[in-house]
Amino acid sequence: MKIAVLPGDGIGPEVTAQAVKVLKAIQSDGLKFEMEEAPIGGAGYDAAGDPLPEATLKLANAADAVLLGAVGGYQYDKLPRPMRPEQGLLRIRKELNLFANLRPAILYEELADASSLKPEIVAGLDIMIVRELTGDLYFGQPRGIRVNANGEREGFNTMLYSESEVRRVAHTGFQIAMKRGKKMCSVEKANVLETSELWREVVLEVAKQYPEVELSHMYVDNAAMQLVRNPKQFDVILTGNIFGDILSDEASMLTGSIGMLPSASLNENNKGMYEPIHGSAPDIAGKNIANPLATILSVAMMLRYTFNQEESALRIEAAVKSAISQGYRTADIYVEGTRKVGTVEMGEAVVAAL
Ligand code: NAD
Ligand code: IPM
Ligand code: MN
Repeated sequence: MKIAVLPGDGIGPEVTAQAVKVLKAIQSDGLKFEMEEAPIGGAGYDAAGDPLPEATLKLANAADAVLLGAVGGYQYDKLPRPMRPEQGLLRIRKELNLFANLRPAILYEELADASSLKPEIVAGLDIMIVRELTGDLYFGQPRGIRVNANGEREGFNTMLYSESEVRRVAHTGFQIAMKRGKKMCSVEKANVLETSELWREVVLEVAKQYPEVELSHMYVDNAAMQLVRNPKQFDVILTGNIFGDILSDEASMLTGSIGMLPSASLNENNKGMYEPIHGSAPDIAGKNIANPLATILSVAMMLRYTFNQEESALRIEAAVKSAISQGYRTADIYVEGTRKVGTVEMGEAVVAAL
């Protein structure tokens, strides 16, 4: 099992190192991983003048799965856009055709107090956000900054989805719903946007193949509100790239911290890239305080979705739960009466629990 490890920038290398430790430890299940590291994002730009160096893409293409930390940093924010770290991430998603991004928001009951919502609102929370990842405003053409007829600059982006793009991610959503609570809510803004109007039509058409799934539709503004009012009404949320980006950061806070949310980005063959949903967190980088659990849980998703090792995936998730119930907490999920530990110590606690 070949894994390309792309630590990236900021806290990326710190959290990735802990996930790699867990991967090494889980080899006791009889699994054998070949791991190779390469730079991406700002690290790619520094090493090769490109946020997605050719050698990195080659390694990712040759691997069965990719483990990614995070990209981005203040020092890169003034570079021309194609050279910015975020473009490296967007390009690798596009190159590997990773159109389905799964972002599970699950509350570990011991963390109910760490959530910014009342414990009774979040207790038992288990949502799967299925975010389309290779279309929408992120990739639509044309885009740019131009001078208009009044001599004023204007910025423009194109929100765009083709039927086939919606159809394939809708299938992913329905298939996941079939394995869960058989309930899916498609989130868009069909009252205003044509992109969303088409999205809804295609989802309704695909729904005919999944009569057992109870399908609903919701406008994104209401969905953002419902997520903090009564999040447990949701099972699977299916949505586009930009709405999914925003809603998943919001959902992460229901679970206590953005440092808890893993993700899997899949193509049609379940080749996958696995990364926490958070960014490079430059404000806390290099201090050994970042929460590595989102990245460790991403490794569990890798074992589940790419390598079909459900038991090992469950074992990692149980080890995370065990570390939490033993009281280990990084600063972002710390509450009084628990044990505050650093990134490395949290990784070690998970490995020990394994
Ligand atoms: P961010 O997710 O990096 O950080 C947001 C806040 O959450 C910060 O206060 C940070 O300290 C905290 N945080 C994030 N991860 C944490 C963790 N594991 N443990 C504890 N606290 C954590 O988002 P941002 O500040 O908007 O962006 C910073 C940089 O990251 C930017 O360059 C952005 O483009 C990039 N970014 C990259 C990714 C990615 O690589 N997938 C995702 C989001 C943002
Ligand atoms: C994420 C990030 C990325 C996105 C950025 C860094 C390109 O916010 O993975 O959620 O918007 O998809
Ligand atoms: Mn994001």
